[in-house]
Amino acid sequence: MTRILSAVAWPYANGPRHIGHVAGFGVPSDVFSRYMRMSGHEVLMVSGTDEHGTPILVTADAQGVSPQELADENNEIIVADLVNLGLSYDLFTRTTTANHIQVVQEMFTTCHRNGYMIEQTTSGAISPSTGRTLPDRYIEGTCPICAYPDARGDQCDNCGNQLDPTDLIDPRSKVNGETPEFIETNHFFLDLPALAETMREWLEERAASGTWRPNVINFSLNLLKDMRPRAMSRDIDWGIPIPLEGWRDNPNKRLYVWFDAVIGYLSASIEWARRIGEPERWRDWWSDPQAQSYYFQGKDNITFHSQIWPAELLAYAGAGDAGGEPGTYGTLNLPTQVVASEFMTMEGRAFSTSRSHVIYVREVLERYGPDPLRYFISANGPETADADFSWAEFVQRNNAELVGGWGNLVNRTATMIHRNFGEIPPVADLEPVDTEVLSRVRAAFGTVGDLIERHRQRAAIAEAMAVVGEVNKYISVTEPFKLKAPEQRGRLGTVLHVLAQAVSDLNRILAPFLPHAANRVHTVLGGTSEFMPMPRSERVDDMDDVTRDYMVITGEYTRTPPWASVPVTPGTTIDAPTPVFTKLDTEVVESERARLGIPAS
Ligand code: MF3
Ligand code: ZN
Repeated sequence: MTRILSAVAWPYANGPRHIGHVAGFGVPSDVFSRYMRMSGHEVLMVSGTDEHGTPILVTADAQGVSPQELADENNEIIVADLVNLGLSYDLFTRTTTANHIQVVQEMFTTCHRNGYMIEQTTSGAISPSTGRTLPDRYIEGTCPICAYPDARGDQCDNCGNQLDPTDLIDPRSKVNGETPEFIETNHFFLDLPALAETMREWLEERAASGTWRPNVINFSLNLLKDMRPRAMSRDIDWGIPIPLEGWRDNPNKRLYVWFDAVIGYLSASIEWARRIGEPERWRDWWSDPQAQSYYFQGKDNITFHSQIWPAELLAYAGAGDAGGEPGTYGTLNLPTQVVASEFMTMEGRAFSTSRSHVIYVREVLERYGPDPLRYFISANGPETADADFSWAEFVQRNNAELVGGWGNLVNRTATMIHRNFGEIPPVADLEPVDTEVLSRVRAAFGTVGDLIERHRQRAAIAEAMAVVGEVNKYISVTEPFKLKAPEQRGRLGTVLHVLAQAVSDLNRILAPFLPHAANRVHTVLGGTSEFMPMPRSERVDDMDDVTRDYMVITGEYTRTPPWASVPVTPGTTIDAPTPVFTKLDTEVVESERARLGIPAS
């Protein structure tokens, strides 16, 4: 048993999430976590809404609401969507909780005391016409790295690099288009050069493990070449106050959103432990060097997880050139792996909220339920290369693979057992064709499991579906529907028993990908109790702020079924099945494309 931290990207609470978001990190992290639990590991899966920083402020400004109001509203929407998608978080919380703010300030204070937060004079923008400071979010310009024309003063949304306003080429004010004037201002910088040596050792050891995706490790190693101090405070009035005399009460200086967001993995673990009444339990995942941590991200976040977050952890531990002592949390584990995905496009183009080229998680769930989407993402997600979502492929995969392949196997098996025996029959005599198919299915626990462990989920589900195909072929070869004579009853029972066993095994193998369907298949096979545990949303009180309550996702996953073949029980009643999946009318393709404004083909 290994302790596994599943650290999932924190979605910005500036709007509902679209399917590109859940394709990159949501579904993959859930498949991995569910599989690891089935394999007997102790998983802690945490995340929450990312509520500080420029993206929230820009949207709140545009909507004429306060950033907290905007975050409250979207937190609830995002919680509902992720629960309905079946993402099995132990805790999905927020970055505006009193607990998170406390943990972030403890991290900052210790990094500062250890000498890794250096105060530097830098230039800040003011508006020449009004003389007032111009917050980073109001400055746009051309990205010096990728030449994207609409990069912001804190980050380029095109290449994902973090920027300072002075990095921008041709900076302009978003308020009135004028060129900002830069004056002197003070900020805290994380001293990456002082941490570079330790960072290199860690990352080279990670590279040698051979476990990271090539693009991700190469990108990360490359970052070592550019270890400049990075600003961890910003000219902004929405964020976590800087816990130092002379700074705490300055309303225009706040910690940088990325300094606080990545600490969310730790603060959410601590919140989880406090909520279950074992306040030190989080240490099992953070202090024990045997524990592993996997950070599920889109590729635009690699910098923050293989450079900024490890640097924060090392600074906190006092593990750089400046020395120092760990704070109250002690020495914390560095990431085992940053599991970063590429991007998903839709109908051949990038998602764009502003251009309404977008499909929200909510819409897909309302119209088609979770299974077709989870299946599509697992089979065709942007794992190591960009991938495209198209409605034609969505419908085609649902109809041919889920309904026609897996659903058909489940349905035929249950129908034949129901009609001929009413219960799972015993085995009379196993023939070679039977033992072959059974061992082929059983071997898939090894092959599919190994692929999931290596974050190759597309190959994993393809392998599982190939075995589904072979079991369907077993039906064509053994022709149970022709075994009508009384003297063939023993053989019929054997074939149907073998099919029940194969469906039961395959249902486990597909369960991390399709947990909702797995529960229905479990019922079809006569199961009564819950099979794959599901997350739930819940309103909770803020533990440190009596004025506040909020929505979280949590769940009880200890009764997750094992990742192994479990013999079916002869005599189990099998009722006439209701179909597990729903065929989609091909008309769906045109109507969905029409919603997106794509002309009919
Ligand atoms: N909110 C960021 C984004 O959507 C992701 C943050 S991941 C974090 O890109 F955990 F580091 F916050
Ligand atoms: Zn850029």
